Amino acid sequence: MRRLRSSEAIRSLVRETLLHPRRFILPLFVCPGEGIRREIGSMPGNYQMSIDELVKECTEVRSLGIGGVILFGLPESKDEIASGAYADDGIVQQAIRAIRREVPGLLIVTDVCNCEYTSHGHCGYIKDGDVDNDTTLQWLAKSALSHARAGADIVAPSDMMDGRVAAIRQALDANGFERIPILSYAAKFASVFYGPFREAADSAPQFGDRRSYQMDPANGREAMREIELDLEEGADMIMVKPAMPYLDLICEARRRFDVPIAAYQVSGEYSMIMAAVRNGWLDHDRAMLESLTSITRAGATIILTYFAKPAARLLG
Ligand code: PBG
Repeated sequence: MRRLRSSEAIRSLVRETLLHPRRFILPLFVCPGEGIRREIGSMPGNYQMSIDELVKECTEVRSLGIGGVILFGLPESKDEIASGAYADDGIVQQAIRAIRREVPGLLIVTDVCNCEYTSHGHCGYIKDGDVDNDTTLQWLAKSALSHARAGADIVAPSDMMDGRVAAIRQALDANGFERIPILSYAAKFASVFYGPFREAADSAPQFGDRRSYQMDPANGREAMREIELDLEEGADMIMVKPAMPYLDLICEARRRFDVPIAAYQVSGEYSMIMAAVRNGWLDHDRAMLESLTSITRAGATIILTYFAKPAARLLG
């Protein structure tokens, strides 16, 4: 076996898994104001940015040949009914218009969820102490539609309500957005690894947790049912999230479903590597590339990753 490992030239000739910046999507956090670029403590190299800064960031992302960005919003104010999520002049809607105008050609994905916009931090309407599924569907459909109107290329629901893909598909089709694809966060687990993101997006639930809607990390077969249902409802692409702790499910989904599969290397996965790097315990570039390679090898076509920029630079 060692004959084919003897030089970098031979190794790259026989390498089975190749990374390409086009397959990366960079998550970005947009906030109100001007000239704001606030680093997120637990996610070095990532920032909350006002729209003017976001546009600069997106220009760089485009020039690095990265596949696209996914937007998360920090609204001016939050309320019980997540109005900021579906307002036509909401923070994400404004950001989409600005990127469309200033950075043409860059692929814009939007995260469709309510947790950044509700005062209680849950992903939907609270009734009797829990998130009410079907009321929340209406908010999600309105949000997705407002993103499409603003110029989003792809909408990505991450809320884990039942039936949300169908509700969003119907709203888009009824309003002339038949061509907008849905990337569904189909198998999204109630994971501790979202911790740093909740600081970044200011979206931590104020009571309880998300276990009545996000999946139990123990359930792999149920993940396949979630994916199947989302595809039946009209999802064009599906996602497994987080990525590295769930490589078995990326692999299983790849075997079963012939649609593009995305994996989200989430905030905690990024922060763990960065913390080890900062302590001198891991080499940054190698840890980054090995993690992205593993996720690709498992079967992901698309990777949402906070490493998109440094990885793209390294890959050239
Ligand atoms: C919104 C959402 C979350 C993430 C993506 N979309 C947070 C959550 O579900 O609590 C997490 C992303 C990350 O950790 O990087 N619901």
